[in-house]
Amino acid sequence: MTQKRDSFSNKFGVIAAAAGSAIGLGNIWRFPYVLGENGGGAFLLIYLFFIIAIGVPVMLSELLIGRKAQRSVFGAFKVLAPKLKFFKVVGVMGVSAAFLILSFYAVVAGWTVEYTILAAANQLVDKTPEQLTDMFSDFSSSVGRPILYLVVFMAMTAGIVIGGVKNGIEKYTKVLMPILFVIILVLCVNAVLLDGAVEGLSFLFQPDFSKINGNVVLEALGQAFFSLSIGMGIIATYGSYIQKKENLLNTAISVSIADTLIAVLAGVAIFPAVFAFGIEPDAGPGLVFVTLPNIFNQMFGGYVFAVAFFILLLIAALTSSVSLLEVVVAYITEEIHLNRKKATWLAAALVTGLGVFCVIYPVLFDSFDYVTSNFMLPISGILISVFVGWIIGKQQTKEELEEHGGKVKVIGVLIVILKIFAPIAIALVFMKNLGLLDLFNR
Ligand code: PHE
Repeated sequence: MTQKRDSFSNKFGVIAAAAGSAIGLGNIWRFPYVLGENGGGAFLLIYLFFIIAIGVPVMLSELLIGRKAQRSVFGAFKVLAPKLKFFKVVGVMGVSAAFLILSFYAVVAGWTVEYTILAAANQLVDKTPEQLTDMFSDFSSSVGRPILYLVVFMAMTAGIVIGGVKNGIEKYTKVLMPILFVIILVLCVNAVLLDGAVEGLSFLFQPDFSKINGNVVLEALGQAFFSLSIGMGIIATYGSYIQKKENLLNTAISVSIADTLIAVLAGVAIFPAVFAFGIEPDAGPGLVFVTLPNIFNQMFGGYVFAVAFFILLLIAALTSSVSLLEVVVAYITEEIHLNRKKATWLAAALVTGLGVFCVIYPVLFDSFDYVTSNFMLPISGILISVFVGWIIGKQQTKEELEEHGGKVKVIGVLIVILKIFAPIAIALVFMKNLGLLDLFNR
């Protein structure tokens, strides 16, 4: 029996929802801080390479798996390859990763709530860069307010997820993402006009190859997965809502371009300020929160832009966290058969509980961040590539991708990437980091 699945209303809706999941704190909070810790330009170059050579193909594979199976990620592998029970692990790992990611992601989203309030109360003005840095570290090392905002944020996320796909996710993203984009552009213009902007821009764009090591490559790979929201089955689930007449390749490319553009623009807004105001580029997770207020302080209309920026960042975080919670909820409703409302509150409560631990123990926060992106997502990435490359195979992939009626010319390259390049490249990055490659050099 085929049920009629809830579907997005049109092409823009799908791209908006997938982009809504992809674009979030990963672009504006995580990308600049990870880039800053990993040497700048060289990281950017490797990151871009991974987006094109691995990110887009894996995103396309997820879309394809979901649309072909017309199931969320848990049922999809069962439908497409009933005998290969092993692939179920992708769904299970995806749920676990989503659960862990959301627990620290919601903490950072809580920080944006604090900063929205600070900006609105005009508390960010007339502060020196040192004061802004202290303000952030006092706040983020405290417990009370971060936990309060974590709870508020998770309640908002749960509220949207209960509404379901069309009413919940699509409506918000469509209008708000373009506004966020415009504000970031304005911030970029203000940033490059700062004294000392050149130093920041060359940190971002001039690769210093001596900074590359195994960990930099691993972090770039992890950031690519995190930022595109791939390796978790989210995109596969969205794929199941996409109509046959849509071109999946274009969808994957558009979402990846939008996502990358926002990350790079966030870098352009942040790094000139890092150098102009004497902040360390490797300041870590607080980077955006200490750099941008300095720009707001200097620019015309800074108050309005500061408030608008943090509100929109919060919304960008919401559209991503909604997709993360949705994976967990889909799992609970499909596998444990709780109703949607109960499942949502249960999942949100569990995530919030774990988030509280992330607030209290920063080590937990850092390790969830590191392990999920750099290991769990890329491992699923290997399995997803192998599944489409070897099991679905060239012929069926071609048919599914050409459902919209046009020809897809890059099938040959795509299949080679999925069958061979992506799995081997990801495996090599892991081996290098686990020290396994050194064994061959003895
Ligand atoms: N991609 C989102 C961001 O950049 C975060 C996210 C990761 C969302 C994984 C869903 C899945 O903020």
